[in-house]
Amino acid sequence: MKAVGGIRLDVTGTENFLSAADLQAMAPAVLAAAAELEQGTCPGSEYLGWLDLPDRITEEEFQAIEASAARAREDSSLYVVIGIGGSYLGSRAILDALGGSAEGCPEILFAGTGLCSASLSRVLKKCKGRDFRICMISKSGTTLEPAVAFRTLRTMLEDQFGKEGAAERITAITDTSRGALRQLATEEGYETYIIPDNVGGRFSVLTPVGLVPLAVAGVDVRALVAGASSMRKACLAEDMSANPAHMYAAVRHGLYQQGFTTEVMSTFHSDLQTVQEWWKQLFGESEGKGGEGIFPASTVFTTDLHSLGQYVQDGKRNLQETFLCVRNAVSELTVPGDEAEGGNLDGLNYLTGRTLDDINWKAYEGTKNAHLSGGVPCTSLEIDRITPEVIGGLLFMFEKAVGVSGRLLGVNPFDQPGVETYKKEMFRLLGKPS
Ligand code: PA5
Repeated sequence: MKAVGGIRLDVTGTENFLSAADLQAMAPAVLAAAAELEQGTCPGSEYLGWLDLPDRITEEEFQAIEASAARAREDSSLYVVIGIGGSYLGSRAILDALGGSAEGCPEILFAGTGLCSASLSRVLKKCKGRDFRICMISKSGTTLEPAVAFRTLRTMLEDQFGKEGAAERITAITDTSRGALRQLATEEGYETYIIPDNVGGRFSVLTPVGLVPLAVAGVDVRALVAGASSMRKACLAEDMSANPAHMYAAVRHGLYQQGFTTEVMSTFHSDLQTVQEWWKQLFGESEGKGGEGIFPASTVFTTDLHSLGQYVQDGKRNLQETFLCVRNAVSELTVPGDEAEGGNLDGLNYLTGRTLDDINWKAYEGTKNAHLSGGVPCTSLEIDRITPEVIGGLLFMFEKAVGVSGRLLGVNPFDQPGVETYKKEMFRLLGKPS
């Protein structure tokens, strides 16, 4: 496939399992699934607001976010984002992919992503005595993990800056009117942003949920949204060979029907590890229901070639693999020569002057060849360079693909009924009053 928005989808590594004719035969079902989304006739249609989100963000919204980010940059060196699941994974994925906060911008910390006391203690220790702000994100406003972290960090902020000073340093991003966080924000006078009713958590990265923390970190959020907007247009194409979301959805579904029930996303670029985590949440929560769904897993190579690589090469043959690759990273690091007499004891002179990126790319090509020979159907998403535009396009492409793919499975991609089961059990054991 030709590159779209700086991303090239290559499905030639699946040809031994899915012929061009097989894919052609799937095209009508893929188009029907996409039409259900566009026309709002699918189950969960009340959560389709993400579909045109990149084109709905107004100049005023951008300006409000940029102004709030400028205030945070002026008085804070740390910015703590509190949220779990879709309320933090998108901003963290993009921030990690871009190598962290820009120079002169606050360091972004994440809290409330679990209940581990060691992890929250580290955040508290780092913030103590420092100029920090809190961005509390919860659509429902009732999720236990972020609520506990918020109460703890807010207490510390109030101790440091007084109640009023703390209120000026808190941003709440939540539902329009419902939930405990909305009530608290109104009563305490926090700055607030709304998560639209029709956008679910895991699809919310292009709402203030993702845009506010990213703007604070100095990310060009307009470029991010522009990338998503271009990808949205490309993903409306009827011809599957020009539509990366449709092609990706079709290939992984066709392979699933043949028993490839686990999809491993493998990257050779460790900065993309959190993008893999975001992808796992998006696909796991959207597809895994009613006894259906491709299990999303991930590996970071070459590190994991020395652990999980053995299984991928040679274990149970129910794996399909999607490579997420970057051809040119930002560093020009090369292998130094060792021309001294008696040198080259490590035998590496054949690599002298080669960039690490070039060597890493060969590792990707070699690994793909090896896994193909081991009977693993391989798809690749190849990126030249990570920029806000490209990453915005990539995330939107996955969102569109999971909508289509969920409908091909016959599930409602926009709910997560299974998540409630652990909550009920946990609250019962904790003795939560009903
Ligand atoms: O995708 C989803 O809806 C979930 O992963 C939520 O984002 C997550 O459970 C957090 O929920 P909330 O924002 O209501 O605290």
